[in-house]
Amino acid sequence: MSDTSTTGDPRHPTNDRSVSFAPTEGDTTTTAMRRTGAEGVDAGVGLTALLVAAARAIETHRHDSLARDVYAEHFVRAAPACADWPVSIQQVPEGDDNPLWGRFARYFGLRTSVLDDFLHQSVGTGVRQVVLLGAGLDTRAFRLDLPSDCVVFEIDRAGVLAFKEQVLTDLSAAPKAKRILVPVDLRADWVTALTSGGFDPAAPSVWLAEGLLFYLPGPAETYLIDTVDRLTTRGSALVFEAKLEKDLLAYRDSPIYTATREQIGIDLLDLFDRGPRPDSAGDLAAKGWSTSVHTPFDFTRQRGRGPLPEPNDALEGNRWVFAHKPRF
Ligand SMILES: C[S@@+](CC[C@H](N)C(=O)[O-])C[C@H]1O[C@@H](n2cnc3c(N)ncnc32)[C@H](O)[C@@H]1O
Repeated sequence: MSDTSTTGDPRHPTNDRSVSFAPTEGDTTTTAMRRTGAEGVDAGVGLTALLVAAARAIETHRHDSLARDVYAEHFVRAAPACADWPVSIQQVPEGDDNPLWGRFARYFGLRTSVLDDFLHQSVGTGVRQVVLLGAGLDTRAFRLDLPSDCVVFEIDRAGVLAFKEQVLTDLSAAPKAKRILVPVDLRADWVTALTSGGFDPAAPSVWLAEGLLFYLPGPAETYLIDTVDRLTTRGSALVFEAKLEKDLLAYRDSPIYTATREQIGIDLLDLFDRGPRPDSAGDLAAKGWSTSVHTPFDFTRQRGRGPLPEPNDALEGNRWVFAHKPRF
């Protein structure tokens, strides 16, 4: 059975924005409940977690898959909101010519694979704490060969984590590492929830913000980056995705945004925060981190499959930023 603790019960989300430090009866972990935002995967930004899960399901069934996630299609099948979404490219009449389930889904497959490798590399250097920021339906704690003394902290809003737990429990899925669920809104102060869940700022950690930062207001992103710096020792690492477009709306009629809006009713441009973005890669460099910034296309070329640039490309400004806090 799964080895999972939660810093609050994600099955009982509430709109209560207060902070409570009362341990739950019978809970052996210290519990800090910070319950915010009850929205689940049915709508709003939570639905984007299902979009990525559907993309991973499709990727999983490809003969040349970049990443495999056997849980992904179960999330899609369990959510009424995406009852008619495909879980393999054979279910899409236009196949790879479909901008959403072809090119965009492959983008998510590539991203998953690259971040899997980043996580493996960090763990290979001895890091044993993994923090998934905006974890969504990420199943790395189940999929990856993580050492059993690894702890994976999954931060997302309560409703999303509740849905995820229900599906994984129904599957009797067993994680490879200890999981700590941290139901909290990243627009608020999330540090107490994480440290109360057992995160140790004195030990090295690796952080993934995959498909997250552009949903947060700029000041919340700045707070997040400052906080990661504050909570990390030397030898820690962070990867995040950024979007550099000055005017996101200029891409409104791009094939990817149009298909996502028209085929599954998700208007990504409405969900992205459109205020000014901080230069988080620059901020980390100024704090002494070593950073490297790549386009997804760099990895497409490296791996021989994935999206390449095209006209009116919603992926044009996407960057993957890899940051390390030097050991010495
Ligand atoms: C596109 S999904 C990506 C999920 C996951 N990282 C992945 O790649 O599969 C974005 C996730 O960020 C979460 N998210 C967005 N805004 C958030 C916030 N303010 N606090 C916590 N989670 C948030 C959403 O609930 C969603 O699960």
